[in-house]
Formats: sequence, structure tokens, C-alpha cells
Amino acid sequence: MLGNFTFCNPTRLYFGEGSLKRLNEELPKYGETVQLVYGGGSIRKNGIYDQVIKLLRDNGKRIVEDGGVMPNPTVEKVYEGSRIARENNVALILAVGGGSCCDYAKAVSVSAWCQEDPWQKYYLNFQDVDADTKIIPVGCVLTMVGTGSEMNGGAVITNHEQKLKIGHVFGDNVFPKFSILDPTFTYTLPKYQMVSGIYDIFNHICEQYFSGEDDNTSDYISEGLMRSVIHSSRIAIQNPRDYEARSNLMWTATWALNTLVAQGKTTDWMVHMIGQAVGAYTDATHGMTLAAVSMAYYRHICPYGLEKFARFAKNVWNVQTNGKTTEQIAAEGLDCMESWMKELGLVMNITDLGATKDMIPGIADSTIMLTDGYKALTKDEVVEILRESL
Ligand code: NZQ
Ligand code: ZN
Repeated sequence: MLGNFTFCNPTRLYFGEGSLKRLNEELPKYGETVQLVYGGGSIRKNGIYDQVIKLLRDNGKRIVEDGGVMPNPTVEKVYEGSRIARENNVALILAVGGGSCCDYAKAVSVSAWCQEDPWQKYYLNFQDVDADTKIIPVGCVLTMVGTGSEMNGGAVITNHEQKLKIGHVFGDNVFPKFSILDPTFTYTLPKYQMVSGIYDIFNHICEQYFSGEDDNTSDYISEGLMRSVIHSSRIAIQNPRDYEARSNLMWTATWALNTLVAQGKTTDWMVHMIGQAVGAYTDATHGMTLAAVSMAYYRHICPYGLEKFARFAKNVWNVQTNGKTTEQIAAEGLDCMESWMKELGLVMNITDLGATKDMIPGIADSTIMLTDGYKALTKDEVVEILRESL
């Protein structure tokens, strides 16, 4: 393991069925006013909203509602939430939902008292939060599994006018102070969202695994996490109420993107960069944008990281190696991955997400170019990958 690093993850997790009541331990730590962030209404239908309201009232909180957070939260919504937070001088932002609500809560937490335009500062200029800017603490009650937002500093925001979807990864002072993970809260997810989240988990691991050539403990952990996702996904699509499978998926999602498996790694993230640009143009579900470009991307970079792709085939997909070349083993691993993705019912092309040939130059233009994977792509290569993904 050759890289140097600092590791700190300050988020306290409460995991398991019935863990919502642990809000009773967290809420007294914060002041009176809580900004309750939620999405388009799923929590009202499945009863989580009523349970949360009761716990907030029992703890004597003044509740300021901030619902209607859309999947792929927009910059306009962040401005609105920041105004609500400021005007009510909120002491805690409690996000109840998926990655969109958690990301949005973090964006509001650093934007409410920011002296500059937060979109310009954090998302276009990638600047840090100023030392004298008040950061409002965030807590999460997770209802959708995939992003890892419950235990990281990521906050992805979309600007439709500028056709940009950008993630800022904030420092550990912006990580949620606590997150509540009850796997039964994910039972009501539509299958489309469940499988999209499953692929998001898997791809987060790939983005970190497919980089570097040193012998790194993070890669062994990643292989274990990937095997667990594949195994549990097959059970969960047959029986969405299988607690064991849903709990493993929830826990794996957290570990896939809470910075652990990135330690000592350069990391890639180009599937996310291309997927996010597709998202900026189509507003499609995050995990599906990744699925739609993944096979074209990985087949394109495979020759540049051949040994790692062969290791992936052997250790994750149990590909038999006897009498085969390294190229054949690597290719077979990717074929196994593609079959599994189809088995889950993922969207495997960008056309089905609403992208057209005409959009490709614009999508390529919106793609943020990172260079730490096995192949530093040119814009022409991004165009080629997008064409293959149509
Ligand atoms: O809005 P409601 O009505 O709640 O419905 C949501 C939404 O339509 C629904 N849902 C969530 N929990 C449910 C449920 N429906 C029924 N029962 C439940 N228990 O699911 C839909 C999707 O929710 P959303 O929060 O948008 O999904 P996800 O968790 O995938 O979050 C996506 C956002 O996270 C960003 C993505 O780019 C996207 O904007 N990401 C954040 C990351 C991070 N913080 O590190 C990393 C990721 O790579 C990702 O980019
Ligand atoms: Zn993701």
C-alpha cells in the first residue's frame, strides 16, 4: 500500500430494525428548531413521516418543514432551503429520504450562512467552506440505499440552466453528525429505484478499485464488498422483503463510499463524471446513468488496466483461468458483470434514458475530466464512449 492518507469518519450510525427511536439520543444534543427535509412524498405514504414527527414533538422541537426535494436536487431548491434555514435560525437539518435529501441537506448546511453565491463558490470554483461560515449540523434517516451520502461529505447538485450536475465532496465537518439506517424503511422502494441503487453501490466500488497497481488492502475489502452486493442483489430482486439481503445492501452501500476503500488509492470516477453529464441533460435516475455508460467505458479502458481487470474476473466473478490469456480472462469478467446487470433489469443504454445523438457533444462538454484512472481520456474518447452507449 503506497499512498499516504488521513482517515477520519465522524458520522455516528444507528443500524437495524427499530433504530429510528435512537433519535431520542441525538435530538437533545441540538437546539430547538429542526428543518425537516424530505422528498416528493414517499415518507408520507409509508408512514415514516408520522413516526419522525412524533419523535421530534416528543423531544420538544419546533419543526420547519422543507419537503419537495426532487431526485437530483437543483440549485434553485438549495437557495430556497438556505433561505428557510437562515430565516428560522435552524439548529439541525434532519434529512429523511435518499441520497437526494441527504445531499441537499449538506448543501443547505454550508450555503445558509455563506457570504458568496454557493453554486459559484462550491460547485464551479470547488472552494472549501470558509472557516468563519457557520455549518448547520445534519442528521439523516435513510430510506433509499446506494449513494453512501449517509456517511460522507458528498453533495451533488444540478443546475439545469447551465446543464451541469456537479458533486462537491466536503470535509468531515460537513459529514452527517448521525445517520439512522433501518433496512425495513427500504422495503417500499420501487424495483427501478432498488436496482438503480444496487448498481450505484457496485459502481462506487469499481471507481475506487480500478486504479493503482500496488498491493492494497483496500482492493481486498472492495472485492469482498462487491461479492456481497452481487449475492444480496440476487436475493433482493426475488424477495424485496428479505431483511438479511436488504440489510447487507444497506451496510455495503455505506462502506462503498464512506472513504474507507479509497484510502491509499488514486481512484477513477470517470463513469460518474460521464453519468452525471448524462444526468444534467436527461435528469435520469443516477444509478441508471452509470449503468448505461459502464460497459462501453470499462471495455474501453480494460487494455490499460488489464491485470486488474483479470483479477476482478477471478476474485469477484470466479472466472476459471486455465488455458486462457489475460485478455480473455479480463473480457470474461466484464461479460459476467454485463449479464448480472441485465439480470437486475438495469437500463443499459443512454437512449432509453432520453439522450439523443445530437446531445452527445454537449454531454461530452459537460463531463468533468479526471485523470487518475487507468486511462486519462480525451474528449474524443468520451464522445466515442457515449456513442457506444446510445
Ligand atoms: O422523493 P420521494 O417521494 O421520497 O421518492 C424517492 C425518489 O423518487 C424514492 N424513494 C426514496 N426512498 C423511498 C422511495 N420510494 C419509496 N419508498 C422509499 N423508502 O426514490 C427516488 C429516488 O430517491 P433519491 O434520493 O433521488 O435517490 P438516491 O439515493 O439514488 O440519490 C440520488 C442523488 O444522490 C447523488 C446523485 O447524483 C443524485 O443526485 N449522489 C450522491 C453521492 C454522495 N453524496 O456521495 C454519490 C452518488 O454517486 C450520487 O452522485
Ligand atoms: Zn453514485
